[in-house]
Amino acid sequence: MTAPKIDDPDFWRSGPDRELAEFRRRCPVAELPDAGFWAVTGHAQITEMSKDPATFISSKGVLIGDVKREVSGNDSILYVDPPRHVTMRRIVNRGFTVRRVAQLAELAESIVATVFDEIDPTEPVDAVDAISAPVPLLIIAHMLGVPGEDIPTFRKWSDAIAIAATDPTDPRAMAAIDFFGYFNAKLDARTAETDPPEDLLTAITADAELTRAEQLGFCMSLLVAGNETTRHLISGGLVALAEHPEQRAALAANESLIPTAVEEMLRWVTPILAMGRTATCPVDLGGTAVAQDAYLVMLYTAANRDETVFGETADSFDVTRSPNPHLAFGIGEHFCLGAQLARLEAKVVFTEILRRWPNYQILDGVEVGASTLLREITRLPILLQPNS
Ligand code: HEM
Repeated sequence: MTAPKIDDPDFWRSGPDRELAEFRRRCPVAELPDAGFWAVTGHAQITEMSKDPATFISSKGVLIGDVKREVSGNDSILYVDPPRHVTMRRIVNRGFTVRRVAQLAELAESIVATVFDEIDPTEPVDAVDAISAPVPLLIIAHMLGVPGEDIPTFRKWSDAIAIAATDPTDPRAMAAIDFFGYFNAKLDARTAETDPPEDLLTAITADAELTRAEQLGFCMSLLVAGNETTRHLISGGLVALAEHPEQRAALAANESLIPTAVEEMLRWVTPILAMGRTATCPVDLGGTAVAQDAYLVMLYTAANRDETVFGETADSFDVTRSPNPHLAFGIGEHFCLGAQLARLEAKVVFTEILRRWPNYQILDGVEVGASTLLREITRLPILLQPNS
């Protein structure tokens, strides 16, 4: 069996779930000499790695492409190892407490209502532009204090940074350059305020522990981590429900199932395909010997279809699945900081969609992106209210 071309963005365009499943069954931990890294596809092995951040570190790279670049002391929290990571996480957690996220529920509801009110549901629209992109974007913009007039630029930066994650030399990635100047000024202004509001920017500027580079790195991580991911979860969830109309009808009839359905969408879509780690010493991983300095790519997307965990129905979409120990948010030290927020956004979006337009139809012309990081839907033609 030839090894899947995990480092080729086009591989991900082809809908490779079955190929990955076969590969995982044969070798859940496999060296890919041509690619220069290891592929870890088993749920148990990814869990083991993620819970041992001393042996499997993030500071030498986390993206598939990082294996080919020099990564050193990146300022994004994603690249920081303990003990520094524990300190950073403590600071930024203040922006994501249960109370803070609960406060955002009202904001999410009002953003979703405003965004949906602007759509003419009797005409075809691109759901990415009309629904999936604006909702998370407006919420993150609010959290980072970005005013309405700057939102289009904010989206441009987000897209450019996501492109850079797959290919930093792509000329479109240059659009992100102004991001740093903009947020540097914003952080300066916030630091100078005598009575700052109790929000995320204040949480990261109030603590002298974070350097300015780290503060900027955190704003950048939020922009991509909290924006593109949730966008693709919403788009992928729309497609999954349309492909399973009986489950969509069950959800529309019983909203209390929506949180369970969101977990299944997370498992099914797995918006972040994979993340990497570097072994700091020779190690046995699920019975396979891994050499020191090996770069290991944890394929969350493959682990989320692992039948040793999800049983015979691993390859079926089931909005009632419970328990659902998916790894869409990672696990362990770097578990997604925004998991509760993403869940909240998806819950509000799908509740409102199923109330307003339970029979929406996906039209021809769906386009998927080529990315080694994100499972992207870049265009999603939709008719929200057919037959009216
Ligand atoms: C469906 C939506 C989302 C998915 C699938 C997702 C997925 C992930 C994953 C897999 C990781 C772990 C990275 C690793 O293993 O190294 C992660 C980390 C992170 N996520 Fe999310 N995420 C989502 C939404 C969000 C949102 C809404 C935010 C913030 C507003 C956010 C902020 C972060 C941050 C800051 C980290 C880094 C945490 C750390 O390194 O300690 N994410 N996310």
